[in-house]
Amino acid sequence: MKVTVFGVGYVGLVQASVLADVGHEVCCVDVDQDKVDRLNQGLIPIYEPGLEPMVRHNHDAGRLTFTTDAAAGVHHGKVQFIAVGTPPDEDGSADLQYVLAVADTIARHMDSPKVVVDKSTVPVGTADKVRQRIASVLKERGADVAFQVVSNPEFLKEGAAVADCMRPDRIVIGSDDEVAIEVMRELYEPFNRQQERTVIMDVRSAELTKYAANCMLATKISFMNEMANLAEKLGADIEAVRRGIGSDPRIGYHFIYPGCGYGGSCFPKDVQALIRAADGIGHDAKILKAVEQVNDDQKTVLMRNIRRHFGDDLKGRTIALWGLAFKPNTDDMREAPSRVLLAALWEAGARVQAYDPEAMEETQRIFGHRDNLVLMGTKEAALKGADALVICTEWQAFRAPDFDFIQQELRQPVIFDGRNLYDPERLAKRGFHYYGIGRGLSITQE
Ligand code: UDX
Repeated sequence: MKVTVFGVGYVGLVQASVLADVGHEVCCVDVDQDKVDRLNQGLIPIYEPGLEPMVRHNHDAGRLTFTTDAAAGVHHGKVQFIAVGTPPDEDGSADLQYVLAVADTIARHMDSPKVVVDKSTVPVGTADKVRQRIASVLKERGADVAFQVVSNPEFLKEGAAVADCMRPDRIVIGSDDEVAIEVMRELYEPFNRQQERTVIMDVRSAELTKYAANCMLATKISFMNEMANLAEKLGADIEAVRRGIGSDPRIGYHFIYPGCGYGGSCFPKDVQALIRAADGIGHDAKILKAVEQVNDDQKTVLMRNIRRHFGDDLKGRTIALWGLAFKPNTDDMREAPSRVLLAALWEAGARVQAYDPEAMEETQRIFGHRDNLVLMGTKEAALKGADALVICTEWQAFRAPDFDFIQQELRQPVIFDGRNLYDPERLAKRGFHYYGIGRGLSITQE
């Protein structure tokens, strides 16, 4: 099938590559000429496992093309995906200007029937706005061309985006139009061979499904972080509690890892957008507000522990920081807990020696050159002469470090672990001061 994808950001690029990989002919349109040129040379703007070879292979095979020519893009696809950004407005609600600009473009150039698909995470009611926008431009043009607008939200996780897209848990299709539903079924047929994963519903429910999924996951995390903070005060170990509750299949083991807060491009933005949308219709989204507040607080938990250990003034102190990305297997630092920590450490006068397996360039880009941040080439180098080690991201490479080496390199054997990677008892026996998240043991040992 011929498909056009507007916006080669994270979601658009992954979706386009995966669709091309199963044989569809995919044309990607973006306004960024530089990005398009680079993609045509096989250069990928983001780090995502498996994406680069997939883009190159399908581009070489002629099934995946990149252009800035919007008219050509509109003519190409029977299905037109809108996968452009919906950044937060000043008040946190989703800004739809890019989505609606694509709707305009499609309407200006279409001369055959189209199925227009909202892939971006958009507030409930957006499909109606896109439909109205297209209809009014067609009317201006005096053109009578059939189209349907479908909501088809994306659930991919960064770091596993290609795999998630290839083997989705579910494919949500929001539409009440038989023809559009049939086109979408045909498009996704290759992903349904093993098991039928399509869930058909009305457009508004599909739009809300996306927010409900992300908000539910964010709620699980904030809930666990709240439990962790309680556990800490009560002298209990949240890791034992986590295993204890996860064994109940109604709760499950997924997404109940306490930590130094959730970040990324989705959870913070989507929780806030749904709060604003609820406010806008006079509904006070109490749980979501608490989820956000607990998370903002949780991003300061590492600094609170550092202060507890060293006092408020960190002038002359050097902190080794492992992990800058908001989670492993990505170089993405949007809303990363490490950023909140860095700002607080600098404010208190500390110098930071940081290492991340993928996010070094991104860190450099964000912070530029500064005296109080030294980017180190390895996790080992980051330790040298530091007063303590802090862990913000649970990269695999941090899970089983050489503790003797850490002890030897640090000025004092202190670890602040924002992801509960290590066994507190074992580290205590080795003579470390170990601060985890919600592990009563670290408190009782003081
Ligand atoms: C998320 C959703 O998982 C995905 O379905 C949606 O489409 C986009 O948003 P992503 O932002 O890539 O994906 O990351 P995810 O793996 O969900 O992690 C989000 C944040 O939660 C990370 O900062 C992570 O460290 C944190 N997290 C996750 C926890 O603190 N504890 C957990 O148990 C799980």
